[in-house]
Amino acid sequence: MDRLARRIKGRTTEFAQLPALTMLAACGIALLVLGSTLASQAPPAASGVPTSHQTSNFPPPHWQRTAGAPPGSYYVGSHLCAECHTGIARTQSNTSMGKASVSALKSQFLFQHPVLTYKDGARILRIERRGDQEIYSASDGRQTMSAPILWAFGNGDAGQTYVFERDGTYYESRISYYKQIDGLDLTIGHEKEPPATSSEALGRRLPMEEVAKCFQCHTSEDVVNGKVQTAHVETGVTCENCHGPGSQHVAAIQDGQLGKSHIFNPAGLDPGDLNDFCGTCHRSTLDVLATNIRGIRTVRFQPYRLENSRCYDPSDRRTSCLACHDPHMNLVTDLQSYDAKCLACHINRSETPTATRRAPACPNALQNCASCHMPKLSLPGAHYSFTDHYIRVYRAGDAYPD
Ligand code: HEC
Ligand code: HEC
Ligand code: HEC
Ligand code: HEC
Ligand code: HEC
Ligand code: HEC
Ligand code: HEC
Repeated sequence: MDRLARRIKGRTTEFAQLPALTMLAACGIALLVLGSTLASQAPPAASGVPTSHQTSNFPPPHWQRTAGAPPGSYYVGSHLCAECHTGIARTQSNTSMGKASVSALKSQFLFQHPVLTYKDGARILRIERRGDQEIYSASDGRQTMSAPILWAFGNGDAGQTYVFERDGTYYESRISYYKQIDGLDLTIGHEKEPPATSSEALGRRLPMEEVAKCFQCHTSEDVVNGKVQTAHVETGVTCENCHGPGSQHVAAIQDGQLGKSHIFNPAGLDPGDLNDFCGTCHRSTLDVLATNIRGIRTVRFQPYRLENSRCYDPSDRRTSCLACHDPHMNLVTDLQSYDAKCLACHINRSETPTATRRAPACPNALQNCASCHMPKLSLPGAHYSFTDHYIRVYRAGDAYPD
């Protein structure tokens, strides 16, 4: 509980104010689906921007990221944001987050592979381009089940999982595409043993509640009154998923009201709250406590892992997600460029501590800090190594600290 105490220290948010956390079943290759409770959300109004706007709802409390549009405001779509914030829109739409989901026909992997197959016991699972559809099928030689794929979830840094519909129910594909093997393998969380019944041959049925959560984390603007309204899907994590509905902002700007922007800017959050904000999708300590997931599966929950490390201080901006990542830009993969982030607090050997830079020096090296202290650990079944955000002294073969 030490870590929890460290994490809560200096927080402006009391426990009681945090969202009720709901535990859900396995999620694509993301292992676990977890999100905040849904509140009701006003349906998008007719096109155009309202001439009147109210101010009382802004900024919306950050822990209600998933609560949808408050009364009097609605989503306008990232194409409208792009008209004024051209530069941000151009870079953000090219990030993995911006491409966290696409329609089946826009999946580059499916495009590059007109036919993909996987032998699943006595069945052959197959994804095949037919005309303007990607058809996913399972056949045991006698019986064939099939469905057109609707969406591809995941930009595919690790992999991509497919979502389709049969008889009004959504399913998650039993197999996913993995970049490392350039082919199909079982989706994480799915049993190795082929399903006994043909109804599950293609994948796992997703209860509506879970569908809503998958979409809240991978798409934008589409969960209305707790229900996925696929007609409203804006694929990917786009502007209004993080900034909230923009109608009042756009109206205010068009009214010439500068200086009072009527839009939520996460930059104003305390660092600990900011990590929780990113954690509504990336998963925080409270999520891990609520779901009791342990072991290597937590390596992809960066807020939780970071909060474990002795570096972490919820009142210090130098350990917030934004210290190292710009959510509008592609992930920086040159590890050495993160050195300055570490050396904002740590000194190097031969340097003397100052009031603001006084964390201890490394006895071993002067640079490339993250390469040793933020190890890349392979997650079994994911064909991918994730960066462990639990910053620590790590030696190859060390047991994974929870
Ligand atoms: C609405 C959910 C959501 C929120 C909020 C969110 N993320 Fe993400 N993020 C995702 C998803 C989903 C992915 C995986 C995208 C993919 O590869 O398909 C991702 C991926 C990333 C990546 C990896 C990018 C890459 O190129 O591999 C970084 C870095 C990241 N997010 C940082 C942040 C930060 C920082 C915040 C808070 C300011 C944040 N995210 C908030 C959903 C979210
Ligand atoms: C609580 C938010 C959340 C939910 C719910 C969720 N995901 Fe994710 N998902 C993420 C985040 C954050 C990442 C990026 C970090 C990681 O890989 O774990 C991600 C990554 C992925 C990836 C890997 C992306 C890549 O580029 O390699 C796939 C595939 C995926 N999710 C599929 C799904 C599917 C399918 C569902 C629903 C059936 C789902 N996810 C539900 C947050 C979520
Ligand atoms: C994953 C969450 C996320 C997404 C998606 C996102 N933003 Fe942001 N945005 C942030 C955060 C966090 C900040 C604060 C950044 C900071 O201060 O370092 C921010 C800041 C801003 C700012 C303030 C100026 C600036 O550069 O800091 C503008 C304008 C903005 N975002 C516009 C957009 C637009 C337009 C889109 C869609 C194309 C978008 N954002 C998508 C999280 C997001
Ligand atoms: C008509 C042009 C226009 C459109 C459309 C527009 N913005 Fe802005 N936005 C601005 C201007 C101008 C500012 C600076 C306002 C100021 O300084 O008072 C701004 C500021 C912001 C900020 C920083 C607010 C703050 O208080 O720090 C964010 C975040 C933002 N916009 C996001 C968005 C998002 C998201 C969308 C789409 C839903 C959007 N904007 C659409 C013109 C626009
Ligand atoms: C001290 C710097 C630092 C901080 C703070 C930090 N990260 Fe990272 N993050 C990194 C580095 C380094 C990488 C690996 C980059 C690479 O090699 O591709 C990374 C990679 C990622 C990735 C890509 C997936 C992976 O596992 O490689 C995601 C997603 C991510 N960070 C999310 C977050 C979130 C969310 C937060 C806030 C809780 C956060 N990071 C805070 C340094 C940081
Ligand atoms: C906000 C300031 C801050 C930042 C940023 C920061 N650290 Fe730390 N770090 C600390 C403090 C404080 C300690 C604890 C020192 C102590 O207990 O004496 C620490 C401890 C450590 C330890 C020892 C951990 C242990 O469990 O014994 C390592 C290794 C470390 N940091 C490496 C890094 C690396 C690498 C980075 C960048 C990726 C980094 N730190 C970023 C402040 C920071
Ligand atoms: C080649 C791998 C490697 C690199 C690169 C590296 N370290 Fe270390 N670091 C270690 C090892 C191993 C230890 C443990 C040393 C020991 O216990 O004898 C350590 C220890 C530390 C400690 C703990 C010191 C203490 O007094 O408890 C800190 C802090 C630290 N490193 C920070 C950093 C920073 C900051 C950088 C980048 C400037 C960095 N390290 C680069 C391997 C590395």
